[in-house]
Amino acid sequence: MSWATAVDLFAGAGGFTAGATQAGVRVLWAANHWQAAVRVHADNHPETAHICQDLHQADWSRVPEHDILLASPACQGHSRARGAERPHHDATRSTAWAVVSCAEFHRPRVIVVENVAEFCRWKLYPIWRQALETLGYQVAPHVIDAADHGVPQHRERVYIVCTRTRSPMMLRMAPREHVAASSFIQFDTGNWSLIDKPGRAAATKARIQSGRHRFGDRFVMPYYSSGSGRTGRSISRPIGTITTIDRWGVVDGERTRMLTANESRDAMGFPSDYRLPERHRDAMQMLGNAVCPPVARDLLTEIRSAA
Ligand SMILES: C[S@@+](CC[C@H](N)C(=O)[O-])C[C@H]1O[C@@H](n2cnc3c(N)ncnc32)[C@H](O)[C@@H]1O
Repeated sequence: MSWATAVDLFAGAGGFTAGATQAGVRVLWAANHWQAAVRVHADNHPETAHICQDLHQADWSRVPEHDILLASPACQGHSRARGAERPHHDATRSTAWAVVSCAEFHRPRVIVVENVAEFCRWKLYPIWRQALETLGYQVAPHVIDAADHGVPQHRERVYIVCTRTRSPMMLRMAPREHVAASSFIQFDTGNWSLIDKPGRAAATKARIQSGRHRFGDRFVMPYYSSGSGRTGRSISRPIGTITTIDRWGVVDGERTRMLTANESRDAMGFPSDYRLPERHRDAMQMLGNAVCPPVARDLLTEIRSAA
């Protein structure tokens, strides 16, 4: 395979880059407008050139020629739970147009866009897709659960594979075996507190109690959630989706704590030596937004052998 270079738009902490690198792709250039994320990306991928920039303003002539355009435009404006920041999140949907303008200038052989599945229900999605088709691309969206790629987490995302082929490249990747959440939970570390400590909400204690009935002494549960799975999940299966804010509590007998940043990194399928920012909040923000590297690795390996 002679074609093996990429650029990564909206590169965040570098999940897409890490997976592409594992698939033998050289990521030449990565961009993001958040300095902390650029620092983390550069720390883990020193061979890549970095730019901290709002990609609405990019000058694509300054981006190196590449075979593969990787992009994860902002997803908050597409997800249903947009909360109080809704107007700001709605405004970020325009980041998807950076993919079109970069593709128009560079015409890479392959484009892979990652986002939440709702991206394909965006009012402008048909026009966005048509813009890429007008540039000569066949557009093939794939909804992929990271658990099917050996990541110990259920995380469904859409990967839109755009190729300059005769027909859309629909890939059929054989699912890998699921990996249990117990593979990354470190019961001997972290800040545990007694479940029965004063001040713990009665409703939380009741949920823990109910989780214990179902799963035994050790299990995980969405600590603040009112949604599904609120009484917990077995640690013998993948955990539910890791989000940008602390979500998962770990229960071990009479004690509990939230998932640590290192555990969240492992739950995302990043290598265990992948360096994270010191601030827990930043680490969770970057991890909760990231592409799971094993998904990117498998997808790019498949694309490169099919193309
Ligand atoms: C979904 S995350 C990308 C995750 C990344 N692909 C990974 O695997 O780690 C989107 C990123 O885009 C950045 N971003 C949002 N709007 C941007 C803009 N206008 N210009 C550049 N970066 C932006 C955010 O800071 C965030 O890090």
